[in-house]
Amino acid sequence: MRMKNVLITGAYGQLGEACIKYLKSYFNIIPAGRYGGNKGIQLDITDAHSTRQMIKKHNPQVILNLAAMTNVDGCETDPKMAEAINVNGVKILCDGFDGHFIQISTDYVFDGNAGPYSEDDETNPISVYGKTKLAADDWLSANHEKTTILRANVVYGYTNRTKASFVKWVVDSLTDEKPIRVVDDQWNNPTWTESIASVINELIEKEAFGLYHYGDKDHLNRYEFALLIAKVFDLDASLISPISTSELNQPAPRPLRSGLKTEKIESELGIIPKSVETCLQEIRKQLSK
Ligand SMILES: NC(=O)c1ccc[n+]([C@@H]2O[C@H](COP(=O)([O-])OP(=O)(O)OC[C@H]3O[C@@H](n4cnc5c(N)ncnc54)[C@H](OP(=O)(O)O)[C@@H]3O)[C@@H](O)[C@H]2O)c1
Repeated sequence: MRMKNVLITGAYGQLGEACIKYLKSYFNIIPAGRYGGNKGIQLDITDAHSTRQMIKKHNPQVILNLAAMTNVDGCETDPKMAEAINVNGVKILCDGFDGHFIQISTDYVFDGNAGPYSEDDETNPISVYGKTKLAADDWLSANHEKTTILRANVVYGYTNRTKASFVKWVVDSLTDEKPIRVVDDQWNNPTWTESIASVINELIEKEAFGLYHYGDKDHLNRYEFALLIAKVFDLDASLISPISTSELNQPAPRPLRSGLKTEKIESELGIIPKSVETCLQEIRKQLSK
C-alpha cells in the first residue's frame, strides 16, 4: 500500500524535528517551514496564495500543523501577528483542503485555576496566545470535518541539534555550574517531543478525529521538573532555587494549576503515557550515542 503524504508545517521547530524523525518511517513526509530547511519547502502559512499552490502541488492526505507563534509574551505584545499566524494561518491551510487536518493546541486554553484538565472542561484562556489557539480549535471543530485537535503542554526536546529548550537550558546551566531560578507555582505534565510524535503517528494511522489531550504521566511544577532533570543528568541540584511566577513580571499571564488529563486518549487509542523520568533517561541515553 502507498504511504500517505503528510505535510508538516512549522517543520523546523522543536516538535517538527521530532515528528520528522519519528514519522518518516511510516509516511511520506513533506516538511515545510517559514525559512525552508536543508531540503525542505519554504512555507509561510499567512501567505494564502503560495500556501494554496503548495498544497495543490504536493497533494497531502494529511496536514500536521505545527506552525504557530509560540512566544507567549510576543503574542501578548503583538496580538495582530498572533491572530494572523495562529488563527488565520489555520483557515488558509484548510481552504480547499478536505483531508485529515491535525492541529496541535495547548493547555493555555484554560485559566489554570483547577488543572489538570480533561477534554470536557470549560476553556477560559487568560493570554493572547491561549485565546488565538482556542479560536483556531473552535474554528476547526465547526468548519473542517476531518480534524484532530491534540492539546499538549510544556513540550521539551533535547537532541544534539536542539537550539533552545527548557531541558537544554537546565542541563547546560548546571554543567557550567551557573545557579538558576525556576518557578515553583506553574504545574503541568511536561511532555517529551518524541512522546507526542508517537501519539501523532497513532492519530494518523487510526484516523482518530476529534479533541484529545495528551501529556506524559507526571504532574510537576517547573522547579520539581528542573530537580528531576538534575537528578537524571547527575548534576548539582543545589544550584536550582525556586521563585514565583509573579516575580518574573512577564507581559502575558500564565495558567498556574494547569496540565492535561489523558484518560480519553488512553481508553480510546490505547496510548499509555510514560513517566517524565523515563523520558529524561531516554534523552540522556540518546545524547551519549
Ligand atoms: N512548546 C510547547 O510547550 C507547546 C505546548 C503546547 C502546544 N504547543 C504547540 O505545538 C506546536 C509546535 O510548537 P513547538 O514547540 O515546536 O514550537 P516552535 O519550536 O516555536 O515551532 C513553531 C514553528 O512554527 C513556525 N512558524 C511561525 N510562524 C510561521 C508562519 N507564519 N508560517 C510558517 N511557519 C511559521 C516557526 O518558525 P520560525 O522559527 O521561523 O519562527 C517554528 O518553526 C505549536 O502549534 C504550539 O502552539 C507547543
